[in-house]
Amino acid sequence: MLQKKDNYVVAVVGATGAVGNEMIDTLEQRNFPVGKLRLFASENSVGKKLEFRGKQISVESLNENSFKGIDIALFSAGGERSRIWAPVAAASGCVVIDNSSQWRMDPAVPLVVPEVNPKDLEWHKGIIANPNCSTIQMVVALKPIHDAARIKRVVVTTFQAVSGTGKKAIDELMQQTTDLLNFKPAVCKVYPHQIAFNALPHIDKFEPNGYTKEEMKMVNETKKIMGDNSIQVTATTVRVPVFRGHSEAVNIETERKITAAEVREVLAGSPGIIVFDAPEKNVYPLAIDCDGKDPVYVGRIREDESIANGINMWVVSDNLRKGAALNAVQIAEVLIGK
Ligand SMILES: NC(=O)c1ccc[n+]([C@@H]2O[C@H](COP(=O)([O-])OP(=O)(O)OC[C@H]3O[C@@H](n4cnc5c(N)ncnc54)[C@H](OP(=O)(O)O)[C@@H]3O)[C@@H](O)[C@H]2O)c1
Repeated sequence: MLQKKDNYVVAVVGATGAVGNEMIDTLEQRNFPVGKLRLFASENSVGKKLEFRGKQISVESLNENSFKGIDIALFSAGGERSRIWAPVAAASGCVVIDNSSQWRMDPAVPLVVPEVNPKDLEWHKGIIANPNCSTIQMVVALKPIHDAARIKRVVVTTFQAVSGTGKKAIDELMQQTTDLLNFKPAVCKVYPHQIAFNALPHIDKFEPNGYTKEEMKMVNETKKIMGDNSIQVTATTVRVPVFRGHSEAVNIETERKITAAEVREVLAGSPGIIVFDAPEKNVYPLAIDCDGKDPVYVGRIREDESIANGINMWVVSDNLRKGAALNAVQIAEVLIGK
C-alpha cells in the first residue's frame, strides 16, 4: 500500500504531547523501519530535543514545505492542526495517520483498527483516521463476538483516565491530589470540577441531545469501524482520577445466544486480546496493570440474566497505547506490509 522501502521518513506532529511521546516510544519499541524521524510541535517547543534510539532530535514548527520527503506522518496535535495540515501533508505525497477527531466521520477517510477492519486501508486517499481511544479498545473486543453471534445492541459505561485529555490533565490530577492531601484547595483549570477523588460524567462538550461528544463518538465510530449501521450503541463516558488506562463496563445483546464460556474462547483466540478472567482469585483487568502494555484485556465475562441473549464484560486498555499511539503505528505497519 506504500511503496516498499528498506526504511521510511516518518514524522510525528504533536511530538511533545502525551500521545506524541508515546508514538516515538512505540516506533522505537516495535522497531519500525524509520530511516529518519522528524518531530513537530507548536512554536513554543521549537529547538526542544526529544530522544529516539539514543539520539536527540530537535523539534520543528510546521510550514507549507514541512512534509516534503516524508513518507508517513503520525498526527496528534489536536483537531484544528489536523484540519489545516493533514491535507497539506497528503498533497505532499505523505500518508497521514491522524489521531484527532477531525477526519474520522468523513466518508472519504477510512477509520481503522487493524484487528477489525484492515481492509479499509485499501481505499485511503492520503489521510487515515485513528479512532477515539475508548472506541478502539471496545471494538477490538466486540468484533469477535459480532462475528460469532451478531451484536444487536451495546450499552457501555466508561471509566477514563486523565491522560486521555493530554499532558495538562495529567499535571492537574497530580497537583490537585498533592494539594488536597496537604489541606490546600484544588485548582481546576482543565476540567470544570475537581478530578482528584472524584468521577466526572462529562467527557468533551455536551451535544443538543444531552450526550457528550465522546459518547456520540463511541456510537458513530463503532458503526463505521464495524461496517454495520444496524449495531445500536448507547454510552455514558466518565472521567476518573486514573492516570493511564481506560476501563469499560460493556453490555452486549446478540442475535444468537452465546454463552460466557464461548465468549471467553472466542476472545482468547482473537488478535490483540488477553482474557484475564478468574474472579474467584480476584483476577480481572485493572488500569494500573495495563499501563504501558499493548493488549486489550477482557474480564468479568458473564451472561446478562435479564435478557435472552446478553453478555456483560469489563474491558481495559492503555489509552495512550492501543487507544492512540500503538493503533497508529499498527496502521503504518499494515501500510508498509510489516
Ligand atoms: N490522550 C489520548 O489518550 C488520546 C487518544 C486518542 C487521540 N488523542 C488525540 O490526540 C491529539 C493530541 O492529544 P494529547 O493527549 O497528546 O494532547 P497534549 O498532550 O496536549 O499534546 C498536544 C500536542 O500538540 C502540539 N501542538 C499544539 N499546538 C500546535 C501547533 N499550532 N502546531 C503544532 N503542534 C501543536 C503540542 O505542542 P506543544 O507542546 O509545543 O504545545 C503537543 O505536542 C488530540 O487531537 C487528541 O484528541 C488523544
